[in-house]
Amino acid sequence: MIKPQYIVESTLVPHSAFIEAGARIERCMHNTINSPESACVAIVGESRTGKSTVLDEFCRNHLEYRKEDGLYTPVLKVVTPSNPTVKGLAELMLEKMGDPRYESGTEIAKTNRLKVLMRNSKTNMVVIDEFQHFCSRRNGVVAHHVADWLKTLVDENRCGLVVAGLPSGLAVLEQNEQLAGRFFTPMLMPRFDWRIDEHREEFLGILGAFQGSIGRYFDIPRLDEEDMGFRVFRATGGLIGYLSKFLKYAVWGAIEGGQKVITLEGLRKAYQESIWDPNSPSDTANPFDKNYQPRHIEGQIGIALNIGCAKLPNVLPRRKIPFSSDDQLVSGKF
Ligand SMILES: Nc1ncnc2c1ncn2[C@@H]1O[C@H](COP(=O)(O)OP(=O)(O)OP(=O)(O)O)[C@@H](O)[C@H]1O
Ligand SMILES: [Mg+2]
Repeated sequence: MIKPQYIVESTLVPHSAFIEAGARIERCMHNTINSPESACVAIVGESRTGKSTVLDEFCRNHLEYRKEDGLYTPVLKVVTPSNPTVKGLAELMLEKMGDPRYESGTEIAKTNRLKVLMRNSKTNMVVIDEFQHFCSRRNGVVAHHVADWLKTLVDENRCGLVVAGLPSGLAVLEQNEQLAGRFFTPMLMPRFDWRIDEHREEFLGILGAFQGSIGRYFDIPRLDEEDMGFRVFRATGGLIGYLSKFLKYAVWGAIEGGQKVITLEGLRKAYQESIWDPNSPSDTANPFDKNYQPRHIEGQIGIALNIGCAKLPNVLPRRKIPFSSDDQLVSGKF
């Protein structure tokens, strides 16, 4: 039985992009086993769109197991450190493979040990999260040496490769034709955009799924109806990571208050205390205010779609979607 305070993070919502990304990774792994060529998949998307969750779920489906003749590790997953080097990445991988001497040896010695370990452990897939770290945030320079090493590693071990990260990581593939040639079309994990019918429906479906889980413990306003759905979209920017953070906070608030009910006021407080948006004007209304009725829908959508975007330095032009902070007056339909 899950404790109520963990109900949100224990809820895994199999939305379309999540299923599609998982299926592409599975296909890649399945067809790479014993194949003479490695196949590679890239999962990209803005921060908090659920990329790591897709990887985690894949890894959970391919846990290591022990047989009489030793430990088998079908999937080797690591998170790219910032400024990766071959030595550093090889060490991380060796550690994950259980090598007690993962720090010792030259780059070549480490690589050779890793190859043997992977072969003996029947590793079929290498999974690399935070792939954008292959590309320097400071000057955009790609760690070509590390990328080439990775290509050779999966080629020689005849295993698949999955990388996930921010779209900026695609520069690594764009600048390396050998890697690019091994990759299928990148899979995009979306932020849900209220203006797009399928996205809106998908988002409301996700809200319905969370509602179902939370509703086992708490009375909570219907989240998956159009009006409340828009408020939640406006609060979370259509990012599933912000959504789960916000709902988690609302649940904590109810537990701390000894309540079995999550009220609109509870959602208002949860938004205020959990969603920090440095891009938004300070006078932006709380979408869970009793009187919240967006007058300029486009403006409200603009605010939402800026949530989670890094704040640009003042010297650069501000981005993208214009928004208005005027939320007070009556609106038409969404
Ligand atoms: N399919 C899902 N069902 C339920 N919750 C999800 C799902 N996908 C993501 N989440 C929630 O969103 C949070 C953020 O997701 P995740 O860490 O996978 O995003 P990310 O795209 O890897 O972000 P970043 O780029 O910042 O690393 C997760 O901790 C989880 O709580
Ligand atoms: Mg992640």
